[in-house]
Amino acid sequence: MRVITTIAQVREAVREARCDGQRVGLVPTMGALHAGHETLIARSVAECDVTVVSLFVNPIQFNQKEDFEKYPRTWEHDLAVCERVGVGLVFAPSNEEMYPRPMMTYVEPGAVAEHLCGRFRPGHFRGVATVVAKLFHAVEADRAYFGEKDAQQLAVIQSMVSDLNMAVEIVPVATVREVDGVAMSSRNERLSTAERRAAPVLYAGLLAALRRLERGEREVRWVREAALEVMEREQLVRLEYLEVVDAVTMQPVEHVDGAVRVALAAWLGRVRLIDNVGFVPHGE
Ligand code: PAJ
Repeated sequence: MRVITTIAQVREAVREARCDGQRVGLVPTMGALHAGHETLIARSVAECDVTVVSLFVNPIQFNQKEDFEKYPRTWEHDLAVCERVGVGLVFAPSNEEMYPRPMMTYVEPGAVAEHLCGRFRPGHFRGVATVVAKLFHAVEADRAYFGEKDAQQLAVIQSMVSDLNMAVEIVPVATVREVDGVAMSSRNERLSTAERRAAPVLYAGLLAALRRLERGEREVRWVREAALEVMEREQLVRLEYLEVVDAVTMQPVEHVDGAVRVALAAWLGRVRLIDNVGFVPHGE
């Protein structure tokens, strides 16, 4: 495994591999790798000849400076995970390498970033789309892997790739969960014991909504109600949003007649968690 810190070097290494006919997979991350990341990486290792994992805590996607500064950095652990799973290249640029001068150009996502997290985290998806575009240009991979855990992020990237004719195939990977259903996230470690005990209610709420959809309910207000009923029982949870949105455009719907996502964000104490489930109506 090679660890590379400059754009010039990673570009050269990837171009060489592709000249030899090798298929290159990219897994963009901010480090602090857990089993969710590991699943994305393992999928790329299984499907591609060379896997590049990027480790970069992207300052321009954080709403608060403190959040960026406090983001966990577990360098040795991350390298050990990459090594163990069979990664060929780790791309770990410095801030100066990625942002050598004040930025004058950004990728601004459109309506896809308006609702859900986009409403509560202004500028976040602009920061994500911009850094991912930069990573795609540095690492000219055939495929890039993204988790459904961050469903709106995935939709933002998919629309960017399609709108801007980027030559990379986006591969979505299902959310990896703890045994009690909590979606894996580096933020889970910041929960108190009581908050951690309350956290499974988020996925339980989403599953209640999903069950109602599977039984044939198509009116969103009743679908939402199913989830709210379950989550209201947990006093420690403060819901930020719970929406049913079109799976591609991320626009809220009132009536379900195509693929949707039920998505939520909630605060447990000072920790903000997000989760979602997908639903596709059959034979309608
Ligand atoms: P990060 O939070 O490190 O996540 C990296 C990738 O891992 C994302 O595609 C995310 O959706 C996926 N992931 C995280 N937890 C997961 C889980 N429990 N199950 C499945 N996949 C999971 O997302 C980012 O970094 C950044 O915004 C990035 C895309 C790297 C741009 O800076």
